[in-house]
Amino acid sequence: MDSKNLNSQFKVLAIAYLLFHCANAAGKVTTPDRGKGEWQLLLKNTGVVAMHMALTRRNTVIMFDQTGSGPSGYRLRRRHHGTRCGNVRKDLDDSSCYAHSIEYDVLRNRIRPLHIETDTWCSSGSMLSNGTLIQTGGFGTGSRRIRYFEPCRNHNCDWKEGRKLLSNERWYASNLKLPEKDDRVIVVGGRGVFTYEFVPKRSPNEKSFNLPFLHQTYDRNEGGSNLYPIVHLSSDGHLFMFANRDSILFDYKRNRVIKKFPRIPGKGSRSYPSTGSSVILPLHHTNAFRKVEVMICGGAAAGALSAAKQGRFLNGSRTCGRMVITGNNHRWKMENMPGPRLMHDMITLPTGNVLIINGAKNGCGGWNYASNPALQPYLYKPKKTLGQRFSILKSTKIARMYHSSALLLPDGRVLIAGSNPNNKYTFKNVPHPTELRLQAFVPPQVGKGFNGRRPHNVSINTSGKDEIVGYGEEFGVKFLLKEKMSKRLRNEVAFTAYASPFNTHSISMNQRLLVLRGKNIVRSKDGWFSAVVEAPPSPKVAPSGYYMLTVLHNGIPSRSRWIKFIHT
Ligand SMILES: *[C@@H]1O[C@H](CO)[C@@H](O)[C@H](O)[C@H]1NC(C)=O
Ligand SMILES: *[C@@H]1O[C@H](CO)[C@@H](O)[C@H](O)[C@H]1NC(C)=O
Ligand SMILES: *[C@@H]1O[C@H](CO)[C@@H](O)[C@H](O)[C@H]1NC(C)=O
Ligand SMILES: *[C@@H]1O[C@H](CO)[C@@H](O)[C@H](O)[C@H]1NC(C)=O
Repeated sequence: MDSKNLNSQFKVLAIAYLLFHCANAAGKVTTPDRGKGEWQLLLKNTGVVAMHMALTRRNTVIMFDQTGSGPSGYRLRRRHHGTRCGNVRKDLDDSSCYAHSIEYDVLRNRIRPLHIETDTWCSSGSMLSNGTLIQTGGFGTGSRRIRYFEPCRNHNCDWKEGRKLLSNERWYASNLKLPEKDDRVIVVGGRGVFTYEFVPKRSPNEKSFNLPFLHQTYDRNEGGSNLYPIVHLSSDGHLFMFANRDSILFDYKRNRVIKKFPRIPGKGSRSYPSTGSSVILPLHHTNAFRKVEVMICGGAAAGALSAAKQGRFLNGSRTCGRMVITGNNHRWKMENMPGPRLMHDMITLPTGNVLIINGAKNGCGGWNYASNPALQPYLYKPKKTLGQRFSILKSTKIARMYHSSALLLPDGRVLIAGSNPNNKYTFKNVPHPTELRLQAFVPPQVGKGFNGRRPHNVSINTSGKDEIVGYGEEFGVKFLLKEKMSKRLRNEVAFTAYASPFNTHSISMNQRLLVLRGKNIVRSKDGWFSAVVEAPPSPKVAPSGYYMLTVLHNGIPSRSRWIKFIHT
């Protein structure tokens, strides 16, 4: 399919979608369940499996899979170097005549194809502080590549392959942006690689460093069970690393393990191919952002890979563990999700609640190793008492299995894309076909029913130029609110900053939410409010770069605006 075809398909789809909804409204009156969220079908065909996704500050989403998967659902007219792709057999088999990456424009609900030169299969990435996406590794000739995507306004930008290479091959590795003045991203692990290294490369001879933790957590009988390690930045500047069932606090500057945390209870593993997911719970200004609590949910049963290879799909894990990684008292506190789950995504919403979405109930990650798609999103409210924290949200009908992804958008919706547990693009005669439909999940409080109580027309006013603020500095926020606020204004309004992650394989690399201090909230006239908000105190709390700033009124979030935190 060429791009023109795609566009006309979208139009047909949009009309069909409208007709469907009007018909629905005319026939049976369906009131959207405000407490359970809603689903939207955005596009019927993205052409490319969204194995990896990242949101840019231009409000576009970069999606890509792998050049090695052959013909995708998006046929190109020209190869990267301009030669025509014809209708001859040779061209139809040539993967460079098919897009394996696209840019999705959130506002216009449109896609355009991008060109990837070498294979990005099961790779990783991170945003640099200037808003450029750095992407590392992949498969085969792509396994040591470092690629860049610099988002632009004119929709003319594309992937660039860097000249410097990674020190090791990185396939199924994880990335994390570090709290350094110069852009530094750590790349950890990968298949058969028990090291870490840093990008962008400062010199061609920069080496990698051994990480015995990756050897210790490696389970050779179960496909490693420690791939895509979970890495979070703690408030002391050290890294929390979790793989399989174990975790450490790691000093990346001195290559030293500071602490070994207790093993998470439960027999199964949480890392690929077992594939649980993780977040750090919101960091809060009331404790100067010092307290850091990690949460890990789901994963596969012990022996799930061996069983799946024989066609038996074991029940996934339904447990979550929470552990405070700061201070000196570390203990996993366990609780149950409403059901078993693996290959899901955990998205921290601006409200501070965690959305658990996508995935399956049985089996493990990998091609056709899972069954029983998990169609119900869960909402987790970390502040509620144990037993009251989970609720079940509105189901989708579309399975999002292996190689699916999820990402929070600036308008509060969660973009849901991808799924392909097959070697190639396969649409027939398989249990779980390649999925190219693009959806958004509209979480509770983001639906239209709340618009009257939602802060809107949010603007940021900084002393300097643009929406750029130094660590610890104050900035102004203005917004409109139709509803009158009570006198307890301060309890009703909150300000959060969100680091948008690089999402793949159930890991949201770099995701963090900060609840910022706001003060001097005053109502001027006609519903305009202004407030003074304090930027995070240091890069250890929020590595430099772009964040999504959200104003909340009684837990109802505004659209987010991009703000940049910088070293001064
Ligand atoms: C952003 O940083 C990267 C890495 O240092 C660099 O290659 C790129 O040119 C920068 N982009 C802009 C717009 O400054
Ligand atoms: C697996 O899950 C099913 C469905 O919930 C349940 O009936 C069955 O007992 C579970 N099996 C095991 C071994 O826990
Ligand atoms: C609020 O924003 C909307 C949409 O951008 C705009 O049309 C409207 O004029 C704004 N309202 C005010 C009072 O500035
Ligand atoms: C901008 O924000 C500052 C607080 O940083 C505030 O003192 C000032 O009044 C604001 N200016 C406007 C025009 O809102």
